[in-house]
Amino acid sequence: MEIESICCIGAGYVGGPTMAIIAEKCPHIKVTVVDLNKDRIAAWNHEDVSQIPIYEPGLSAIVAKARGRNLFFSTEVDKAIHEADMVFISVNTPTKTYGLGKGMAADLKYIELCARQIASVSTTDKIIVEKSTLPVRTAEAIKNILHNTGNGVKFEILSNPEFLAEGTAVTDLLNPDRVLIGGDTDAEGQMAVKALVDIYANWVPKERILTTNLWSSELSKLTANAFLAQRVSSINAMSELCEKTGADVNEVARAIGMDSRIGSKFLKASVGFGGSCFQKDILNLVYIAKSYGLNEVADYWEQVIIMNDHQKRRFATSIVSTLYNTVSGKKIAFLGWAFKKDTNDTRESAAIYVADYLLNEQANLAIFDPQVSEMQILSDLDYLESRSTDANRKGISVSEDVYENCKGAHAIAVLTEWDEFKTYDWQKIYENMQKPAFVFDGRNLLDGEELQKIGFVFQSIGTGK
Ligand code: UDX
Ligand code: ADP
Repeated sequence: MEIESICCIGAGYVGGPTMAIIAEKCPHIKVTVVDLNKDRIAAWNHEDVSQIPIYEPGLSAIVAKARGRNLFFSTEVDKAIHEADMVFISVNTPTKTYGLGKGMAADLKYIELCARQIASVSTTDKIIVEKSTLPVRTAEAIKNILHNTGNGVKFEILSNPEFLAEGTAVTDLLNPDRVLIGGDTDAEGQMAVKALVDIYANWVPKERILTTNLWSSELSKLTANAFLAQRVSSINAMSELCEKTGADVNEVARAIGMDSRIGSKFLKASVGFGGSCFQKDILNLVYIAKSYGLNEVADYWEQVIIMNDHQKRRFATSIVSTLYNTVSGKKIAFLGWAFKKDTNDTRESAAIYVADYLLNEQANLAIFDPQVSEMQILSDLDYLESRSTDANRKGISVSEDVYENCKGAHAIAVLTEWDEFKTYDWQKIYENMQKPAFVFDGRNLLDGEELQKIGFVFQSIGTGK
């Protein structure tokens, strides 16, 4: 079966970039990305392509090339589903905030709504592709809905989890380590798998396209994220021990990373991992393990989250204790709010939790991030419901100029590893701060020795400095 028309439901951090690359690499396929959110679609269609809603290096140039040719963004969900041979589901699957599995299980209501909508508008056979990260055996639920509520047309379900990391989405999509496609093992299932393999084969070498059964594919995505998050928590656990013993976590990471069995990537100690995936997927894994009565498995993975929460809190408490046990009324300048560099995404960013802690200690926070808006920062804080929206607005200021942001501050906290932070005029920043002037580097980003020479009191994660 040759695919001529694709619809992707969900124009977010996964759906948007993935479809842009498919459209760019497959000019013979019409790709329509739909979303209920009118503002988001309007932003994707913005005349000035630099205004698309997601900041990812290289993405706007690709959108500029394919948009209007074979890449379209629309709010007409039914029409796009109806016309497509293949429908990708890329909607959000947040952690449940109510009822059974609250705080742990993935909330599948958006997925279910999509399945019902697909069933009701389809009049031709379609391949449905799960792109969102989902609990194992979600495909079963989607299948049930499609087959019991549809118009008698045939649906094949595939799992094709996305492994792109934000900030490097374009290069990850253009040159993936692997593409994973899970499908049913019967003849129809395998035909559907082949149709999707053929799409990726337009730019991904065949040996990197891995096919498995549905359940292996779904579980592999959760497993990959759990292993990656575990590495960050492992090095963060060592960072605390380094601080006590005089070891330097960067040196330890280099030393162990040279062991080819361990590998050098993902060993950067930090204020804690964030992002929309790690915490949500591990909580989901823990929930699934518990639901099968596998309590040791659940406890094992839960520890990764416990360590991460500890690391965020530890960073915040160390600021308070170093600033003579009080930050009340003191100005603390944040460099960075995004959960990592090169993205405007703030979901689960460590900065939010550190800010929350310091606001409870009555600090005045001055926040600067090269890509995150004041509106987003306030909405992240309001979402916590730790204090009134008024108190959040009184407690923080947001500046577009880093030097203004740090003026008069008692301390600077580095929360995101933006490259540009390294190139600032730190002498100038120092001169305009309260003395002693502190820098708390939550990303091991800055050159501590240089800053100490200027006069800063410098503390970095896991170095004892
Ligand atoms: C992750 C997975 O990498 C990706 O495959 C999956 O599709 C989605 O989840 P993402 O959340 O976009 O991607 O970013 P990632 O680069 O994995 O970083 C996650 C968090 O871990 C960030 O807050 C980052 O700063 C932190 N991190 C990462 C560290 O603190 N140290 C490291 O060594 C690596
Ligand atoms: P991700 O990081 O997984 O891409 P996002 O939250 O960035 O998650 O994007 C998911 C998008 O899916 C949102 O823009 C949301 O409006 C959209 N969405 C959710 N449910 C539906 C639906 N039933 N139909 C169309 N779009 C939907």
